[in-house]
Amino acid sequence: MPGVLIAGNWKMFKGPGEAVTFAAALRDRVAGLDGVDIAVCPPYPALAPVLRTLDGTSIAVYAQNVHWEAEGAYTGEVAASMLHELGVAGAIVGHSERRQLFGETDETTAARAAAALAEGLRVIACVGETAEERDAGQTEEVVRRQTGAIADVVGLHEGLVLAYEPVWAIGTGKTATPAMAQDAHAAIRSVLDVPILYGGSVKPDNTEELCGQPDVDGALVGGASLVVDSFAAICEAAARIP
Ligand code: 13P
Repeated sequence: MPGVLIAGNWKMFKGPGEAVTFAAALRDRVAGLDGVDIAVCPPYPALAPVLRTLDGTSIAVYAQNVHWEAEGAYTGEVAASMLHELGVAGAIVGHSERRQLFGETDETTAARAAAALAEGLRVIACVGETAEERDAGQTEEVVRRQTGAIADVVGLHEGLVLAYEPVWAIGTGKTATPAMAQDAHAAIRSVLDVPILYGGSVKPDNTEELCGQPDVDGALVGGASLVVDSFAAICEAAARIP
């Protein structure tokens, strides 16, 4: 991977109009910024207009999910070929909100990743422990299991990026310490040696320290990616990492 990757996961925020306004402002704000790869992950209805707005820039556009089948009777799902046709660069899979709220499992996460990669899309596959699992001392076991399920199906694929997102740190303002992130990333990398992003309350003022850890290759940003100033400041901080 050329530089640190900073990806903004907008979750279920920003319809097409707001998304285009944001994308245009981000495009202007980070023009000429070197040393960081930037991606945004809008909701499905905003993908096409954001792609048009960012055409000709180096900011990549990812979807937030993708189905494992090529087509079929899967109401509410979107196939990798459809995203590819749109010009989307990749997709997030296995986000903890999908796992916790929508029945996503290690197996479906791996299947979604495999289908997207086979279509030529890049993939950000998420892993991470809950607060209960961390308290029980199971963090490494959980992230190794989740990563192993992806490794078994996908292997070492050049289009694959993992994201370590401790569930207790998502949207809570509680960030893993740089040492906690480093330990988890090292455990993940021992199973699958691909770039690994950290996610969970990443903000401009903790980006350099978190992304400066040896096994942290970037960030998957939620809340702070919804405001141009804070997302751009995170990208600028990441670009300063030697
Ligand atoms: P927050 O940055 O809001 O904690 O969200 C992280 C996340 O879930 C990114 O996918």
